[in-house]
Amino acid sequence: MLPEEYQKARVLPPHLRKQPAPEAPFSYVIRDAKSSDLPDIREIYNHYVLNSVVTFDEKAMTLREWKGKFAHLTKHGYPILVAETPSGQVIGYALVQPWRQKSAFRYTVENSIYLRAASTGKGLGRDLLGALVDRCQEAGYREMIAVIADSGAEASIKLHEEYGFKEVGRMGRVGFKFGRSIGTVTLQRSMKKASKKA
Ligand SMILES: CC(C)(COP(=O)(O)OP(=O)(O)OC[C@H]1O[C@@H](n2cnc3c(N)ncnc32)[C@H](O)[C@@H]1OP(=O)(O)O)[C@@H](O)C(=O)NCCC(=O)NCCS
Repeated sequence: MLPEEYQKARVLPPHLRKQPAPEAPFSYVIRDAKSSDLPDIREIYNHYVLNSVVTFDEKAMTLREWKGKFAHLTKHGYPILVAETPSGQVIGYALVQPWRQKSAFRYTVENSIYLRAASTGKGLGRDLLGALVDRCQEAGYREMIAVIADSGAEASIKLHEEYGFKEVGRMGRVGFKFGRSIGTVTLQRSMKKASKKA
């Protein structure tokens, strides 16, 4: 008979067993983006470029392209926000850019919001969108537009609707990615205060 067959395996009582490390709370601060955040922003965005239809870009953006976009947007005062964990990881960003180039559209902005895949579904999108709306109100913008893919972006549509955006139009088959046609849903929200949903 082998020792393990007659010796009972010893099990430590629960209070002496090693406890698993507690899960770190999901915490972050939202702040203005810096140029040093661009590699993280690029990585977050390119994940969706290469793996989803939530963006109509098909080619990964280069750091040089992000630097150019960042310089242009910050020069003209468009807010770009990031969410950063206590350990310094950028886990999401939100920005606005001009809705159209023609000057009479100057008070209208189009938003863009992307989270690291592991940081979705925990309320961060709501906080980032809220902070972005606040910043755009302070900056004097009047209308915010979101153009969202009509399939595969349900969380984004829901998030915007919960934040008071209203659907103002749909376009079918205007995009083509991964071998299939994709349409867009356009949502709009006034930047006037007090229209935020409770
Ligand atoms: C879209 C995004 C910013 C939303 O932020 P988030 O913090 O993940 O938001 P949540 O996952 O809490 O979802 C918001 C709402 O959508 C709902 N939702 C999530 N996935 C859904 C799905 N597949 N179908 C329907 N509703 C969905 C959630 O239940 C939640 O509703 P609730 O508040 O009633 O529970 C984030 O998921 C993201 O970065 N996604 C990938 C990139 C992207 O799509 N960006 C937007 C491009 S337009």
